[in-house]
Amino acid sequence: MTWVRNRWYVAAWDAEVDRTPIARTLCGEPVMLYRKLDRSVVAMRDACPHRLLPLSMGFKEGDSVRCRYHGLLVGPDGHATQMPIKTEPVPKGLCATLYPVVEKHRFVWIWIGEAEKADPALVPDFWPCSAPGWTFDGGYNRVECDYRLMIDNLMDLSHETWVHQGSIGQHEITEAPIETVVEGEQVLVRRWMPGIEPPPFWRDALRSTGLVDRWQVCHFLPPSSVLIDVGVSPVEAGDTIERHDSGVRGFVVDAMTPETESSTHYFWGMARNFDIEDSGFTARFKAQQGRVFDEDVDVLEAQQRSIDANPDMKLRGYSIDEGSTRAPDHRAAEPGRGGVSGPIGRGDLDHNLGLRLRRAHSAVQRHFAEHFADLGLTQKQVSALWLTGDHPDLAQRDLAQAMDMDRATAMALVHGLEKRGLLSRSPSAIDGRRIAFRLTQAGAALLAEAKQAIAVHEAWLKGRFTAAELSTLEEMLARIYR
Ligand code: FES
Ligand SMILES: [Fe+2]
Repeated sequence: MTWVRNRWYVAAWDAEVDRTPIARTLCGEPVMLYRKLDRSVVAMRDACPHRLLPLSMGFKEGDSVRCRYHGLLVGPDGHATQMPIKTEPVPKGLCATLYPVVEKHRFVWIWIGEAEKADPALVPDFWPCSAPGWTFDGGYNRVECDYRLMIDNLMDLSHETWVHQGSIGQHEITEAPIETVVEGEQVLVRRWMPGIEPPPFWRDALRSTGLVDRWQVCHFLPPSSVLIDVGVSPVEAGDTIERHDSGVRGFVVDAMTPETESSTHYFWGMARNFDIEDSGFTARFKAQQGRVFDEDVDVLEAQQRSIDANPDMKLRGYSIDEGSTRAPDHRAAEPGRGGVSGPIGRGDLDHNLGLRLRRAHSAVQRHFAEHFADLGLTQKQVSALWLTGDHPDLAQRDLAQAMDMDRATAMALVHGLEKRGLLSRSPSAIDGRRIAFRLTQAGAALLAEAKQAIAVHEAWLKGRFTAAELSTLEEMLARIYR
């Protein structure tokens, strides 16, 4: 068994489950799902307690199911209430297993494991699927591959360039650097593409042609879901990889529930916060997304067949695979290779210096981001404020030069800060033909806070080393940087 127990898994879309039972094997267990008259969902082991005929083949009687073979009547609590020979008393304890279920974020979730441990608070947080101001729809595919191959696929979007070259593939995606961040059990693979031309889809969604910051954040949620946060916002808004709500945003939603060791129920969709009333858009997008996923399914099923046909070969991991190799729970064994469980390993990556440096970098970045999050400033914005504070007559050209930016990008940055009332512009005191920037009172106060956050961060980092180690470290870092 390669899946994790004592977790919530998506069993079905909420709309799939109705009065007539449906049968679905979830994490290797045959389950029957139906709704009672009060619309609550029943999830029951799909095997008659008598001779194990699937109960889902039976007849509904109110909220009960009568077995199609010898007519045992089973209530929604799993207990048999009538024997095949109606006059016979029902033995105590004759019942089918029930599974805890929760309906949330448009899905029916099922607890696979010990029922007494089921805590609804542990349902993965698919908030965009049910938040006000958002809309969400999607579909379902059964895929003939190990669910972990799908997680690999979704945590590494570099495949878009090749698998989806006829649809959504874009070379810019492989050109933007990625960063992997581990937060508790969750893994994030983040791409931030600052100050770029928006691709047509996002330009139309944003209804603006200006430069944008674009992001793609693949978010692994245990045990087996991936939410991909995508979108763009105008450069002037000064959004950050940690906080980006000024533009248009969507979440590609992927919930993979293992059916068997080598087949998966794939629930997919898109939640978005723009044009949410436009049902035509929703339908068109769903059809398009379905076609894109068909391209993945072709590749994944072929990959699974190839893994099966090459049992003597190893799967290798490169830096692009870091997001999936660090997803904690689905690494009980090599994906695609059934129940061989073994130690968690990253194959060739285990001794990779670059990986270890990037991991250290992620930790530093995370600490920095955490201490900066409340300020709502990017590092570049802090630099601009800092330079302005230190040089009271700083002009546009000086700022662009000092920050190694072109003037248009520097101006976009300044606009964002002006809009927030942190910077103002007026003629230079030295050369009246030039316009100089000045910190406002609010700008000076926020800069002071930012400096303090930087000091805390610096102390945290430096506190890990002795003075001698620090000077060696600085020398070594300079060698890499050169
Ligand atoms: S198998 Fe169900 S009643 Fe006999
Ligand atoms: Fe894909």
